Amino acid sequence: MLRAALRCRTLVPRSRRSPCLRRPAFRAPRASSSSHAASARDAQLEEATAFVVRVGAVREGKTYSRDVAEGVVAALADPASGVPLSALLPTLKQLAGAYEIGEDNGLDALAAAVEREVNERAGKQLVHCSIKAGSASFDVSAYEGTSLYDVVRRGEDDGARALQSYLECACSGVMACSTCHVYVAPAWFDRVGAPCEAELDMLDLAHEPRDNSRLGCQLVFTPELDGLELEVPDGANNLMDHIPFEDRG
Ligand code: FES
Repeated sequence: MLRAALRCRTLVPRSRRSPCLRRPAFRAPRASSSSHAASARDAQLEEATAFVVRVGAVREGKTYSRDVAEGVVAALADPASGVPLSALLPTLKQLAGAYEIGEDNGLDALAAAVEREVNERAGKQLVHCSIKAGSASFDVSAYEGTSLYDVVRRGEDDGARALQSYLECACSGVMACSTCHVYVAPAWFDRVGAPCEAELDMLDLAHEPRDNSRLGCQLVFTPELDGLELEVPDGANNLMDHIPFEDRG
């Protein structure tokens, strides 16, 4: 039909053309090309978002939720960022660096900023916690729903950096190392809650466990825990060191 309309357009003088011949010939292609451009753009955005999610899944302790990944992509796709759509994925790859071996060239900082915004938009509360480690003491903060392990792995302020020097979190939060072991101040223990059986099993193997011991990877911040007080033990057992590796020789 389109070919027929175009043929008529060539052969019939402009003054004698019927309006019904011109209408379908011009409208249909315009609508189709703009919807094609929109779906191409959507596909590029989706590919970029999937890449960010994949980086988070591969890089230890840096999971990026779908919301955060979409926020990162939206920030870069914003015309104000100066990144053309065609350069979106290459830019993200540059920021991710060799993420398979733990490198990062800025993607994590961007994701952390977006995550803060996502948490604030969702109305999540920032929970504050004071930590004693030997003669040192410092404060950390985290949004409700995140764990002490998240602070160690993803926190970027001074308190988080201090905590990173005390808690190794060697097993990435799967209750297999006990290096995230902390003592909960007795006044707070009931509000934090008792450990589950699996956590108790790991705590039995931790360095000098007490009745108020918890694993940081299982300690999730809630608004009721604002002001929580924790203490870092004076040593740590890394049970990962005792996992025998298969002799492949
Ligand atoms: S991070 Fe290993 S047990 Fe918590």
